[in-house]
Amino acid sequence: MRIIECPDYASMSRRAAAMIAAQVLLKPDCVLGLATGSTPVGAYRELVKWNREGLVSFKEARSVNLDEYLGLAPEHEQSYRRFMQENLFDHIDIVPENTHVLNGLAADPDAECAAYDAMTAALGGIDLQLLGMGHNGHIAFNEPGDDFGLGTHVVTLSERTIDANRRFFASRDEVPRRALSMGIRSIMLARRILIIVSGEDKAEALAKAVSGPVTNEVPASVLQLHPDVTLVADSAALSALKGGRAE
Ligand code: F6R
Repeated sequence: MRIIECPDYASMSRRAAAMIAAQVLLKPDCVLGLATGSTPVGAYRELVKWNREGLVSFKEARSVNLDEYLGLAPEHEQSYRRFMQENLFDHIDIVPENTHVLNGLAADPDAECAAYDAMTAALGGIDLQLLGMGHNGHIAFNEPGDDFGLGTHVVTLSERTIDANRRFFASRDEVPRRALSMGIRSIMLARRILIIVSGEDKAEALAKAVSGPVTNEVPASVLQLHPDVTLVADSAALSALKGGRAE
């Protein structure tokens, strides 16, 4: 794992955006695996800016997103489809049909998950997968204890994740309890992985993920087994790793 330490969130965002832009410049029709949440917002903002300035074009790029809440329509204010439209897709030259987000209203969620894996494989697989990480070490909606061998599947959110995501909803009761999510297997199939982490509140989980044992109790620890992972994090997020950092 390559670790890039940045002084703050803004520089972390620029570094991450630069890696994504470089991927698109090297292979214009690449498949980008994308994430939602607070962490990637700054990187998406940089990509929008560089796209407007003509530095990078997404005209040929394809995208697949990590996850979506089960039961939320694409237009719902808190759906991940809407998040992607508002934070990235509506502001860059990507072709709408080339952006893929799981359908939270699928009549048969298991069939939706299987079709999503088949679709991703048909695109040629993910060239670069962007990830954030939860306070409990989750990646996508793969919670502590989940099986590393799963492809895209239906998940039940942990109480901690419901609490963390509550800030986006009017009340805790409104946070969906289930989601559709790429599994660890789907993520590990990506050729390259870029994980971005910001803030001291994630330092402990990040230290466990990077230099603790590989265990499904810390889902992000599986990344130690992937041959091409770059962690871009701010100094606060890396603070618990100091001295004992495993490169
Ligand atoms: C988002 C996702 C989640 C987030 C994680 C961190 O698509 O899959 O795993 O990356 O919950 O969220 P933030 O960035 O809001 O702290």
